[in-house]
Amino acid sequence: MSIGQNIPHDSSRGHVTGGSVFIDDRALTQKEVFVLPVGVPAAAGLLKSIETKEALKAPGILAAFTAKDFHHNHWGTIIPEQPVLVENKIGYYDEPALILVGTSMDALLRAKSLVKFDIEKHPAILSIDEAIAKKNFIYKANPFACGDAHSALQKAPHKLSGSFECGGQEHFYLESQACIAYPMEDGQIEIHSSSQHPSETQHVVAEALGLSLHEVVCIVKRMGGGFGGKESQAAPFAAMAALVAQKMQRPARLCLSKDDDMMMTGKRHPFKNFYEVGFDDDGRILGLKAQLYADGGAYADLSSSILDRAMFHIDGAYFLPHAHIEGYVCRTNFHSNTAFRGFGGPQGTMTIESIIEDIAAYLKKDALDIRLLNCYGKNQNNVTHYGQTLTHNTLPDLFAQLKNDSEYLRRRQEIDIFNSQGTGKIRGLSVTATKFGIAFTARFLNQGNALVNVHKDGTVQVSTGATEMGQGVNTKIQQIVAHTFGVPSPDVKVMATSTEKNHNTSPTAASSGSDINGSAALQASLEIKNRLAWLYHNILIGTTMNDIAECPPVDLNQLNLADFHFHDGNVVHLPSGQNISWTELVKKAYLNRMSLGEYAHFKTEGLGFDKARSLGTPFNYFTNGVAVSEVEIDTWTGESKVLQADILMDLGRPLNPGIDRGQVTGAFVQGMGWVTSEKLFYNKEGKLLSHSPTTYKIPSIQDTPRVFNVSFIENNENHQNVHRSKAVGEPPFLLGISVWTALKNALRYKSTQRIPHIKSPATPEELLMELKQYE
Ligand code: MTE
Ligand code: HPA
Ligand code: MOS
Repeated sequence: MSIGQNIPHDSSRGHVTGGSVFIDDRALTQKEVFVLPVGVPAAAGLLKSIETKEALKAPGILAAFTAKDFHHNHWGTIIPEQPVLVENKIGYYDEPALILVGTSMDALLRAKSLVKFDIEKHPAILSIDEAIAKKNFIYKANPFACGDAHSALQKAPHKLSGSFECGGQEHFYLESQACIAYPMEDGQIEIHSSSQHPSETQHVVAEALGLSLHEVVCIVKRMGGGFGGKESQAAPFAAMAALVAQKMQRPARLCLSKDDDMMMTGKRHPFKNFYEVGFDDDGRILGLKAQLYADGGAYADLSSSILDRAMFHIDGAYFLPHAHIEGYVCRTNFHSNTAFRGFGGPQGTMTIESIIEDIAAYLKKDALDIRLLNCYGKNQNNVTHYGQTLTHNTLPDLFAQLKNDSEYLRRRQEIDIFNSQGTGKIRGLSVTATKFGIAFTARFLNQGNALVNVHKDGTVQVSTGATEMGQGVNTKIQQIVAHTFGVPSPDVKVMATSTEKNHNTSPTAASSGSDINGSAALQASLEIKNRLAWLYHNILIGTTMNDIAECPPVDLNQLNLADFHFHDGNVVHLPSGQNISWTELVKKAYLNRMSLGEYAHFKTEGLGFDKARSLGTPFNYFTNGVAVSEVEIDTWTGESKVLQADILMDLGRPLNPGIDRGQVTGAFVQGMGWVTSEKLFYNKEGKLLSHSPTTYKIPSIQDTPRVFNVSFIENNENHQNVHRSKAVGEPPFLLGISVWTALKNALRYKSTQRIPHIKSPATPEELLMELKQYE
C-alpha cells in the first residue's frame, strides 16, 4: 500500500546532499553564453533610445538585443499586452528593456552600468487610490450578487462600513527565474526552464521567435520553489534566452540574481476593499456589499483571474444570505503582479475575517462565537454567494473540534487575566478558517495527460504535465502509479516534465497538480494493469503459451478484474490462489507483443460557471481548515510574536500525510509572513527598495510559532478526487490570517473607545501607530 503512506519526497536526499540539479547547476556546454536583462530607471514615460556603445566595448561582452530583435515582442496569459522588452512606453521601474550577452556573469555585471537610457519621464501611478481616482482599470468584473443586499442592509439592526487593505508579497523562491536555451537542428529550440507552466513557456518562446509550437521543447526537471511566481512570469525570461540562442546559435543561460528577480518580477496583488456589512444583535451577517480593488501593476498578467478568485472567496467560511460584490483590477506603474499561493483567495477571505473581528469588537463579543454563528451549515445555509452548494461540509466539525482541542475557552480566560495585569505586553487569540475552492476557475485548464512506460524489467517511468516545485507532486504521482501496479514505490520514477511527452498542459497551479495529473496517471496505469490481468487470465486458462499461442486481443467482458490482486510485487489470481511475480508477468507481456505503455487524458467533471450571471459550480470541491493563533505584542516597541498556533484541516484521505503536513506548516508560515513582516517598500519614483533579504523580512525559524500543532480530521467522503484525497498546496496559506486577526484581537484590550483598525502587514510600525491612537 503506497497510497496514504509517508514515503519520503523524491528529492529529499538530493536537496540535503546537493545532488538535486537546478537550472544553474547544469554543466556549461560548449560556447555557452550568459544573458543579463537590464531594467529602465523610471516607472513611467517613453524610452527614447538606448546607448550600448560603451557596454559593448567592455571585456567579455558579446552582444546586446532589444525589443526590435524579437519576431513578436508581446506576451500575456490572458491579454497579450506585455512587452518582453520595453519598446517605447515604460510600465514600471526596472522593467527589462535590453539584454546583454557576455562570456561570464562578472563581465555582464561590470558592463551593465555602461548602458545609458534616454527617457522622457511621465508621472507614475503608484497607489490603488490614484488608479481609482483616474479610473485606470485593467479589468472590471461582472458583479456577484445573491439575494437583495441593498434592502438587507437597510433593514439590518447594525451596520459597519470601512475599508480593508493588504499589501503585496514577494514569492521569495530560493531559485530565481532561470532558464537555458539550446539551439537545435533546423532552427528548433530546446529550453530548460524553472517554470510552473512548460506549455506556456514553449508557447511564448515560439511566438517571440517566430517558430511553431512543434519547433520548441520546454523541459522542467524541478524548481527551487515557484509559489505562483513562475506560473506566467517564467516565460518572458525564457523568450530572452531563446532569442540569444536563436540569434547567436549558442546555448544561452539566463539566471536572475535575487535582486534583479525581486525588482523585475510581479508579486502578490495588494488589495484595497471597501465594504458595508449589516448584522443582527447576535452578530449574524444579514447583508454584505463590497468593492474590491486589486493592484494589478503595469500589465494584465493573471490579474483578472486573481480578482475573480478574491470575489469567490470573500465569503470565507461564512454564509452570506445577501451579498453584492464588485471588483476592479487597477493599472499602476508597478511590476506586473501575478499568481501567488492562494491566487486572490487570501485577499478575499481576509476581508471577511477582518469584518467579523470588527463585528465582535462592536458587539463586545468573542469573535469565535460570531464565526460559529455564521459558519456554513451542513444541510442549510450551505449555498455560496455564487450558487455552489457545499457538499459534505466539514467546517462546523472543524470549528467545534479545534475549539475543544486547543482549549480555546481556558486560554481566552488566561489572556483576559494577562492583559489586565499591565505588563507592557498584550496578548490576543483568534480563530480563522479556510474554505478553498479547488479547480482552475477557467474551466478549460482543468485537464491533463499522462504517459506511463513499463519497462521490460518491471520498472516504471511516468510523465505528466505536473512540475515539481517542492510541493511533492512527483512523490504523490509515484505513489498513485506504484499503488496501481502493486510495486514498491522506488520502482516508479516520475520523469522530468517535457512538452515533448505531454502536450498542451495546464500550469501546475490552483493546488490541483496532483488532482489532475495524478488522475491522468491513474487512468493510464489502470489501462496497463487491465491488459496484464487479461494476459495472466489467458496464461492461467492456457490460451496463451510462449512462442506457440499469442495472447488474444483484450476483452474485459470476459475478465473479472477483481479476481486479480496486484500487490507487493506479485499478481495473485484470488479464486485459484495462483500467483506470478510482477516482473515475470511484464516480461511475458513483452514477449507476447503487448503494449506496456499507455497515454491517458483526464478532465475534471461537473464544472460549469456562468460568468454573465456569476452563478454556477466553478469548483470541484473545497479544502477546509481552521487555525487558532495566540500572539503577544510588546506595546513599547510594537514587536509581536506568535506564542502558539493550532491547525486542523480536512484533507480528505491524504495521499501522503507527511508531505501534506509539510505543505500545511510551510503555507501557514508563509501566510503569517505576508500579514506581519513582509512589507514592500518603494521610493517616490516607484523603485522597489526592499529587493533583498536584508531589506525584505520573511519569517525565520525564530518567528515560527513557539508551539505549533498541525492535525487532520478523517474524511472519507471526497469521492470527487483521486483516491478521495484533497488538494493541499494553497488552502492552508489562508490560515496565516489568524495571526493578523489575533493581533487585532490583542489591540481590542487596549482600545476601549474604538474598533482597532490596522492594515496588513501588521508590522511593528503599524501596530505602534495604532496603539498611539489609544493614548
Ligand atoms: N510548496 C513548495 N514547497 N514550493 C512551492 O513553490 N507552491 C504552492 C504549493 N506548495 C509551492 C508549494 C502553490 S502556489 C501551488 S498552486 C501548489 O503548491 C502547486 O502544486 P500542487 O498543485 O501540486 O499542489
Ligand atoms: N488558480 C491558479 N492559477 C490559475 C488559475 C486559478 O484559478 N487560473 C489560471 N491560473
Ligand atoms: Mo499557485 S498561486 O496556483 O501557482
